[in-house]
Amino acid sequence: MKKILLGLFLVVSSLVFAKDTILVQGAMDIEVDYLVKSLTDAKKEQIGAWTFWKGKIGEKDVVVSQTEVGITNGAAATTIGIMKYNPTLIINQGTAGGHDPKLHAGDIVLAKDIINIGAFRTEFKDYGVPSDQKDFIFFDVVQRIKDANGNKLENKTFSSDSKMLETAMKVPYKNGKVVEGTIGTADQWNRELERIKLLHETYNTSAEEMETVAAAQVSKAFNIPFMGIRILSNSEHNREDFNPETATWCQEFTVDFIKSLK
Ligand code: 5AD
Repeated sequence: MKKILLGLFLVVSSLVFAKDTILVQGAMDIEVDYLVKSLTDAKKEQIGAWTFWKGKIGEKDVVVSQTEVGITNGAAATTIGIMKYNPTLIINQGTAGGHDPKLHAGDIVLAKDIINIGAFRTEFKDYGVPSDQKDFIFFDVVQRIKDANGNKLENKTFSSDSKMLETAMKVPYKNGKVVEGTIGTADQWNRELERIKLLHETYNTSAEEMETVAAAQVSKAFNIPFMGIRILSNSEHNREDFNPETATWCQEFTVDFIKSLK
């Protein structure tokens, strides 16, 4: 009897006192270096091609994940991160290119909506008929997932957790504006202004990058709250070339955000 009670106590207490773990992601070296430096008691773990550092920020258990670049890497790193560390929140952060002409390098976009802007199909055109990107049709089938209960979900867009968005909006930031917006993800780096304008008008994107939708889609499939934080590192509209310093500013903001969580 005593043993049963003790067992029950251990199970209940592990549920009640289960600690939150935050999985925080960045793609390139310059997008994780400050996060890794901010960890105390960091322990590095390599799984396949993906690197994780497990440690603490203040009292919080945090795992920094280097996803590497692009959608496939983003999805794989998120899946491994979930299976291995059982996170209660996933943050994807890093640099992005401006689609909204009002935004400048250094401004931060909190990902209210996230969309796969590389998913499109075309109608039949015969030889000799020129391709026109204006005819591309959004292909939302790739965004269909089952949730943790096996229900089929159709997603035109994904989103950050509304409570997390609210908290992030309150984090002080000195290198630019902080806005809520739409992040467009694709394995693309677009510099043609006509194309950027078309994407912005079609999807209402604030900025483009290469991982957020992968992390958001996998997080949703596992029913784990997600938060996307992207900083403009470049804007063709405003003739602003890639500024690597912005990668550090985004990580500083992310660390402040993590510290501000209750
Ligand atoms: N277009 C696409 N990806 C960008 N990145 C930064 N700016 C852009 C941009 N204009 C990010 C991607 C990827 C890396 C190459 O930089 O998310 O990880």
